Amino acid sequence: MNQINKGLAILACALTLGLIGCATTSGTPNIESSMEKMGEHIGAAMKSTNMNDFAMHAKAFRENVDHAGQNTYPGTTSEQTMYREGIAKLAQGLNAVDAQIVAGDLDAAKNALKALLPVRNQYHAVLKK
Ligand code: HEM
Repeated sequence: MNQINKGLAILACALTLGLIGCATTSGTPNIESSMEKMGEHIGAAMKSTNMNDFAMHAKAFRENVDHAGQNTYPGTTSEQTMYREGIAKLAQGLNAVDAQIVAGDLDAAKNALKALLPVRNQYHAVLKK
């Protein structure tokens, strides 16, 4: 192998390793880590004493709901459908939360967010194994 070929071989290896690295470290977070963040932000939102803080955590909660929704549930086809349904219910419920944020009513916004807890409980009971 001459010097140029050796160089090309090293470059190909580096590129391959780089691609593998990217595939494992970037992209959509998995369901578990999205859920963990959802838990943190819903808790922080409920503890907020002003609308700014509440709105910030509600936004972060929604972003993580969106991330969770970009994953495919690792289960049967009907479980996958159920999972998408549950995520869609959260997204829908968050529209009611946003409406109260716009209205500037912190108590009503908290109540709308709290209304998502039964959705969590319902879906965790069947999908969280
Ligand atoms: C208010 C809404 C919700 C909150 C705050 C929430 C929070 C959480 C938390 C804290 C975990 C544990 C994560 C960990 O192991 O560290 C979890 C797990 C999980 N949640 Fe949720 N969740 C919510 C709604 C939902 C809904 C609607 C679904 C289904 C559509 C769902 C499906 C799951 C699944 C499948 C797991 C297990 C993930 C795994 O360990 O791989 N969650 N959730």
